[in-house]
Amino acid sequence: MRILFVCLGNICRSPMAEGVVRAELERRDLAHLVELDSAGTSDWHVGEPPDPRAQEATARRGIDISCLRGRQVKRSDLDRFDLILAMDAENFSDLAAMATPEQMRRIRMFLDFARNTTEREVPDPYFGQEDGFEYVLDLLQDAARGLCDHIEEELRRAGKLAAE
Ligand code: 4NP
Repeated sequence: MRILFVCLGNICRSPMAEGVVRAELERRDLAHLVELDSAGTSDWHVGEPPDPRAQEATARRGIDISCLRGRQVKRSDLDRFDLILAMDAENFSDLAAMATPEQMRRIRMFLDFARNTTEREVPDPYFGQEDGFEYVLDLLQDAARGLCDHIEEELRRAGKLAAE
């Protein structure tokens, strides 16, 4: 199973989402069964590490994202990944503009998996204050738990995990 997280710059929200979901998969001993990646709809930060504020905020929660590097989403990603998760509505519509009807079925909003918020979009923290990153992480950790429940169900259905 392969999952791609997508935001605008690929230096704040989507690398944080990737790190948070990897940590949740590791906690559940599922990390070896799922490939994760992240990308930006823009090419503004290709090759760059995550924003220092994003690295620091995730590190405070015990998650290291310093190895990740920015890249731009490409058309072949829409075939390669089983789920493509947009952080906000603009990312979603940019992905939709690249996608065939078949590929569209794999593109979702990441916060569709969150259970404890009414937010539908992860707000862009780039131009805001430090506490914006904490709020983003709260949303991402909520969605990560829901996503990992979904992944477990899918892996069971595919016979890759023993039934409960
Ligand atoms: P991200 O945040 O989409 O969460 O990575 C942004 C990063 C950079 C810019 C905008 C948003 N920028 O304008 O450079």
